[in-house]
Amino acid sequence: MAEKEALLVQKAYEEIEKNKVLVENDPYRLNYHLMPPVGLLNDPNGLVQYKGSYHVFYQWNPFETAHGAKFWGHYSSRDMVHWREEPIALAPSEWYERNGCYSGSAVEWEGKLYLFYTGNVKLDDGTRETYQCVAVSGDGVHFEKKGPVLKLPEGYTAHFRDPKVWWKDGRWYMVIGAQTLNGKGATVLFSSDNLLSWTETGLIAGDGMNGLSDFGYMWECPDLIRLSGKDVLLVSPQGLDPSGHFYNNLFQSGYFVGQLDYETAQFMHGTFTELDRGFDFYAPQTFVDDKGRTILYGWMGITDENEPHQPTLANRWVHALTIPRELNLRGEKVYQRPIDELSMLRKNRIEYKDAELAGPATEFNGVKGKSVELLLDTMRVEFGGFRIRFRGEAELFYDSDKREISLIRKNFKSGEPERRTCEISGLSQLRIYMDNSSLEVFVNEGEEVFSARYFPKPENETIIFYGMGNFSLAKWDLEKMSIERYNFQRGAL
Ligand code: FRU
Repeated sequence: MAEKEALLVQKAYEEIEKNKVLVENDPYRLNYHLMPPVGLLNDPNGLVQYKGSYHVFYQWNPFETAHGAKFWGHYSSRDMVHWREEPIALAPSEWYERNGCYSGSAVEWEGKLYLFYTGNVKLDDGTRETYQCVAVSGDGVHFEKKGPVLKLPEGYTAHFRDPKVWWKDGRWYMVIGAQTLNGKGATVLFSSDNLLSWTETGLIAGDGMNGLSDFGYMWECPDLIRLSGKDVLLVSPQGLDPSGHFYNNLFQSGYFVGQLDYETAQFMHGTFTELDRGFDFYAPQTFVDDKGRTILYGWMGITDENEPHQPTLANRWVHALTIPRELNLRGEKVYQRPIDELSMLRKNRIEYKDAELAGPATEFNGVKGKSVELLLDTMRVEFGGFRIRFRGEAELFYDSDKREISLIRKNFKSGEPERRTCEISGLSQLRIYMDNSSLEVFVNEGEEVFSARYFPKPENETIIFYGMGNFSLAKWDLEKMSIERYNFQRGAL
């Protein structure tokens, strides 16, 4: 590692050590979500299974609970439940990345692990430069930077970033999030036969193409995946205006289903569908594991006006990744379900085969807690509505007349209730992951998902049901995921 990078890494390790007690004693630290050891985490990066281990890298500013010159933090695992904190993978030490090693992806080739990322450079005159860069590793832990492999092509502004690379039929492909010179968000396709020199095929999707209009000034973090014989482009557009129940967060993440012609860059696709209907979900990325599953992690946070009000800021950390979700396509809809491995965290099963609600507030014996999985199945809701109140702080509400499901929480700044709503055709199943300060609600086997952070009083463990109807109810406590800490002090010597 070059001296400059080693110094930055050392500084980040010191920051972790300095804040360790404060961070670890925060009652809002999560039990089974990946978080930064200090500072701000945003996008999941470089998701890959390499030599049998799962690797999750993440955008990380160790020095502030705000955005800045990003590092790549790194965790690895054999099962996505037992984790090991790895040494820092990338620190922004070189001229071509001096304002951040921005988001990107990972692939294995000929036994080596390649990281692709965006070198972000902000010049003194306020302009930017962007370089798509590569770092290579033989052990999945120590990386050697190879520098830029792709400069900004003609036709785009310097908002050109987040390379996602994949292999198909004997060739490497890459999509990049872009802004065209007339200020429209887009996704650009490249190909390569050696991972180091890349040729542009063309724009595959964007505002103004394929029936889209007013569809964002920048598209971040594209990811092209294959599900059930179709090509699915996941992307995070910035600049969509709220429209009814849609696009109510500052930025959105969603997908288009279609068919991509890899020769001509023609991508015929349908309409945009949001991946998550909650408050905190952005910049997801996927990878395919050796069981053939397509697995997604998202950033369970978003840059918005709420951010400076999260209570964890006082303890020098902010944000987390979502739980890993397996993706499947049914018709034109992406279904998401928590990966099976998460059931390793379950203990203390409590079951009510026929849980009945008769109107007033109902608590079921033993159904309470902070770190809990709830499964409500074969649901039958009568007369209007059904509600679950989580720890006195958030509520899930199903209106069976309107066929709408809403998640309501308190705004971090004002304390006033705020709501995200989604139409569904009926409610048959709810699978809910509660962690110390987060909720992930999977509706009807993952047809819709709501992800949100919330900050209940730490001592409140109540889960209260309201409405008329019945369902089967199972509840498990979810144990803390084990994370073997990296000995930063020793590692840095
Ligand atoms: C998305 C994003 C990416 C960028 C990264 C910087 O949240 O803005 O486009 O690479 O975060 O941290």
